[in-house]
Amino acid sequence: MTSALPEITRPESGDVVELILDDHRTFEALLRELRNDQNDRDLLRGRLAELLVAHGEAEESDVYPQLRRTDAIDEHEAEHGEEEHREIYEALLRLLEATDLYTKEAGHDLHELSETLLHHLDEEERDILNPARSDVAEADRARLGAAWAARRNELLARGCGSLEQVRALLDA
Ligand SMILES: [Fe+2]
Ligand SMILES: [Fe+2]
Repeated sequence: MTSALPEITRPESGDVVELILDDHRTFEALLRELRNDQNDRDLLRGRLAELLVAHGEAEESDVYPQLRRTDAIDEHEAEHGEEEHREIYEALLRLLEATDLYTKEAGHDLHELSETLLHHLDEEERDILNPARSDVAEADRARLGAAWAARRNELLARGCGSLEQVRALLDA
């Protein structure tokens, strides 16, 4: 029996906290499916790369600065989030460079990405999404949700997670 592989949905509106959490659940599901060597790891890697970049870049352009401005988070938290995105992209790049995803080395790269990403999800949910939930009004969370989703979906539509694109992102 084969399990259904996680799909990337494209919501256009919603509470920014809930929208971000939905993607975090998708990241966790993608990582879980990637561990299973009976699965098509190439397909899953591609999905994970696209969603990681679209999700993170949209947070940096359409969520972190807005939460900074309303003092929901401080400068340190915003910068720390961006540093962790960079660490995720670096770990992702190593996985994208692998030509065979079923070797011991690729398993190690996958483990590193999993550790780095899960660490970030934990910190972001505690230190950024909690204050966003308590300190930002519902209408503003909806506005941020729409802006974040628009940016994320635009990046997904364009394609943003290729080896070259992740390399360029890290060089910028
Ligand atoms: Fe996130
Ligand atoms: Fe993030």
